[in-house]
Amino acid sequence: MRIGILTGGGDCPGLNAVIRAVVRKGVGHDGDEVIGFRDGWRGLLEGDAVPLDLAAVRGILPRGGTVLGTSRTNPYARDDGPDRVLACLDRWGIDALVPIGGEDTLGVATRLAERGVRVVGVPKTIDNDLEGTDYTFGFDTAVGVAMEAIDRLHTTGDSHHRTLVVEVMGRHAGWIALHAGMAGGANVILVPEHPFDVDAVVAHVQHRFDTGFSPIVVVSEGAQATDGALTVATGEQDAFGHVRLGGIGPALAALIEERTGRESRAVVLGHLQRGGTPSPFDRVLATRFGLAALEAVHDGESGVMVALRGTEIVRVPLATATARLKLVPAERYAEAEVFFG
Ligand code: F6P
Repeated sequence: MRIGILTGGGDCPGLNAVIRAVVRKGVGHDGDEVIGFRDGWRGLLEGDAVPLDLAAVRGILPRGGTVLGTSRTNPYARDDGPDRVLACLDRWGIDALVPIGGEDTLGVATRLAERGVRVVGVPKTIDNDLEGTDYTFGFDTAVGVAMEAIDRLHTTGDSHHRTLVVEVMGRHAGWIALHAGMAGGANVILVPEHPFDVDAVVAHVQHRFDTGFSPIVVVSEGAQATDGALTVATGEQDAFGHVRLGGIGPALAALIEERTGRESRAVVLGHLQRGGTPSPFDRVLATRFGLAALEAVHDGESGVMVALRGTEIVRVPLATATARLKLVPAERYAEAEVFFG
């Protein structure tokens, strides 16, 4: 078979492991040809593609980012977009497409599947917010980076008797904040799913100082105060209509400093969380996803996404997976709250 592959949306550690797995099994074992489209859906709009042989994927397992490049291009943002994609698939003689992406990339995949394209999606995002899979690869690595940062900030915070506010990514889901905050022993964790009361945050910070230690506050970029006091969105949007987030950390740090009378600093981790080598968990998950996607293609599946359920890789309908975001449930947040203050 001739299989197309692309990586779309924000980059994420583990993308190369998926590409490698598809090529190693497809080209190396099953007699397939694999064509890589560059920069996500842009490659399919503009016919920018490269055949991937075994040599092309040698040495890429531990590499972060994506050797195919990525973009947030949305073919549905232009009238002729979907038809251009279909024509390109035809020109390259693609039998089936394996898009690797989050809600946006897989949302496009869902619509193309409805138009008859054979599609098997692979879920990725550091945000871990895709419904239908227990975990996306990239999340474990991002949490590891954020946890290490929190560990380091504990020691400098304690030395200077300062509050340190750590802003993490995750968009509208608080998974990175929740897991990194729990793993790093944060004294307050703020997530978008649970609007926070500034007075309560200040009380936790003060309590931590009272016990002789310095507080670490982990705040997810999409978190908001109950009274809306700290809205920082710039209003800028990407091609899928997502508002660019960022800035809640410094705003919250300034407020905490004002309210406690003690120095407070913010660290915005930003793209550090997306870069660099994938963790062992992400390498294995991404590799298993790649193998499973190829198997699904060979089985004649379409309109499905491979997913992790417990320890098994399963197939779920793409439409279900992209219908809504997987958010942090109240009971998971309650577990973290036990350690506040
Ligand atoms: O979806 C992954 C993610 O890193 C989000 O956590 C974040 O809000 C967004 O992408 C940032 O996107 P960009 O790198 O395009 O600014």
